Amino acid sequence: MAFRKYWPTASPLLLYLILALPPLAAFADPEPLQDFCVADLNKPGQSGNGFPCKLVSNVTVDDFVSKRLSHRGNTSNPLGSKVTAGNVLSFPGLNTLGISMNRVDLDIGGLNPPHSHPRASEMVLVVKGQILVAFVSTSNVLYSKVLGPGELFVIPRGLVHFQQNVGKGKASAVTAFNSQLPGVVLASTSLFGAQPSIPDQVLAKAFRIDRGFVKEIRSKFGS
Ligand SMILES: *[C@@H]1O[C@H](CO)[C@@H](O)[C@H](O)[C@H]1NC(C)=O
Ligand SMILES: *[C@@H]1O[C@H](CO)[C@@H](O)[C@H](O)[C@H]1NC(C)=O
Repeated sequence: MAFRKYWPTASPLLLYLILALPPLAAFADPEPLQDFCVADLNKPGQSGNGFPCKLVSNVTVDDFVSKRLSHRGNTSNPLGSKVTAGNVLSFPGLNTLGISMNRVDLDIGGLNPPHSHPRASEMVLVVKGQILVAFVSTSNVLYSKVLGPGELFVIPRGLVHFQQNVGKGKASAVTAFNSQLPGVVLASTSLFGAQPSIPDQVLAKAFRIDRGFVKEIRSKFGS
């Protein structure tokens, strides 16, 4: 009887509680336990997640401001692209907040090469130009689209993706992450630029090419 009596009111409450419970696995970074914890990047004894906090009495508004993404990156390199990172390492105020942003500048034809972020999903906001944005699912399906200014693309956490300027002028994008330090696994550099090197025979067999070719590719990645 009691159940019947209380169920009609308990039900919306229960539903509310279920919806309000944080889906823990969906958060890339742990939830903060205080308003802020501006990183003291130089404090020794860093352990576990994130960085130790600066003394609150030493925190100023400047800890919550970064001008790092205000300048176009230097794209004079073989890829014709430059990623300027606005993560906790350059912007200590982000520590424990679970967010960060990068700026991606691309020359005509410039490429931000295939890579993945182990700790974050990513949103790409095209600011200027025409950019081909794409990711590959774990079923090896390529999802790609050419985007213009103001358009968004979301890249699920951990999947390999890239951006290329396919327009007639320079292009720029801003990328946002649900991690203070998303981490980057650059496909080419991880495999061919690792130190010490991945053995020749491993890469030769993996890519079904001969070892001479492995050496040639590796020489371009400084390994
Ligand atoms: C706090 O700021 C003062 C003055 O700038 C500095 O001398 C001191 O080392 C800072 N303390 C910490 C723990 O960062
Ligand atoms: C951009 O990078 C190239 C290659 O490293 C360098 O030669 C050039 O001076 C840089 N340009 C600027 C404006 O920093």
